[in-house]
Amino acid sequence: MNDLTVDSPEFLAGIRTRLAAEDVPPVVEEVLTPQARADLVAHIKHLLVEKDATLVAHYYVDSAIQELAEATGGYVSDSLDMARFGTECAASTLVVAGVRFMGETAKILNPEKRVLVPAREAECSLDLGCPAEAFSAFCDAHPERTVVVYANTSAAVKARADWVATSGIALDLVRHLARRGEKILWAPDQHLGAWIREETGADVLLWPGACVVHEGFKAATIKHLQVEHPDAQLLVHPESPAEVIAMADAVGSTTGLIAAAKRLPAMKFIVATDHGIFHKMSEAAPGKQFIEAPSIGRGATCVSCAHCPWMAMNGLAGIAHVLETGANEILIPEDIRARAVLPIRRLLDFARARKAQVLGNNDA
Ligand code: 13P
Ligand code: SF4
Repeated sequence: MNDLTVDSPEFLAGIRTRLAAEDVPPVVEEVLTPQARADLVAHIKHLLVEKDATLVAHYYVDSAIQELAEATGGYVSDSLDMARFGTECAASTLVVAGVRFMGETAKILNPEKRVLVPAREAECSLDLGCPAEAFSAFCDAHPERTVVVYANTSAAVKARADWVATSGIALDLVRHLARRGEKILWAPDQHLGAWIREETGADVLLWPGACVVHEGFKAATIKHLQVEHPDAQLLVHPESPAEVIAMADAVGSTTGLIAAAKRLPAMKFIVATDHGIFHKMSEAAPGKQFIEAPSIGRGATCVSCAHCPWMAMNGLAGIAHVLETGANEILIPEDIRARAVLPIRRLLDFARARKAQVLGNNDA
């Protein structure tokens, strides 16, 4: 915590804001024969219609789930856009293939809908490293600051926030708040927060959380890979450490990185984010080659191997199971939901206004 600007360490002492490697589950991919996979896909298609359900998936989940979502009128995107889609789709049940906070965000915005998640244990190290009670005490100690929390947090943490932000909108939002003279308390991802502070020049106080996947990317090993592939450009998600971000040809949210793969001239990219994104990147930029940035390794065993172990818990069998049984329904106490919805709505309204402004500028 030495290089953090947290100025009240007493609020953080004793809180597990960072997960140890042994707290991270191993990545276990779903293994199915081609026939079993085809049968399950057909079964889920039938169940989605029967249960009036729509499948919404994050870019990091298995490509079979992403394909199924798109083939059935569902959606694949980043966390901001998944939330937006959930509010616009007509189905009475949403199946959210991602991690728990994504299911919770869907439920917070759509209390009348049933929200199911294929894997109840699909957590996020950022969410786990930001317990609501301690976070609330931290906020209480800094009443002069506007509280902006990353979407990767629990409903209870969102309920304590003034704004929710995703990596796709965080820079614009913090710039906007700083222009109004506001000082920011940012949680939980310290690397993303530090990048925002650097880019915007805003006064940002950081909660010291981290993503176990992105924090594993190391500048030195990426440099070695760049020597092997001198023609490759580097794409980096801003949850990565500052020295990795500093090397990047493009830094952005998952959607931003897919757009960069398409836009940038290289035919080859080293990608510092979860390799689940390769499915959509290859679709967006056909013919281009994508190489995983090396992730932290201990002997032959990676901690994350550039793949989120919690995202990997989403499988076709789990989707079929929750649709058949109604298991893993996300339920949020109404008092928390009613408070958490306010900063999320602010985010969606801000994102909508920002998009309209950008489109207006392009038309002008
Ligand atoms: P995006 O909002 O960029 O999709 O990121 C979500 C996430 O969990 C990244 O690790
Ligand atoms: Fe959380 Fe990191 Fe997994 Fe994203 S990749 S869900 S930030 S643990």
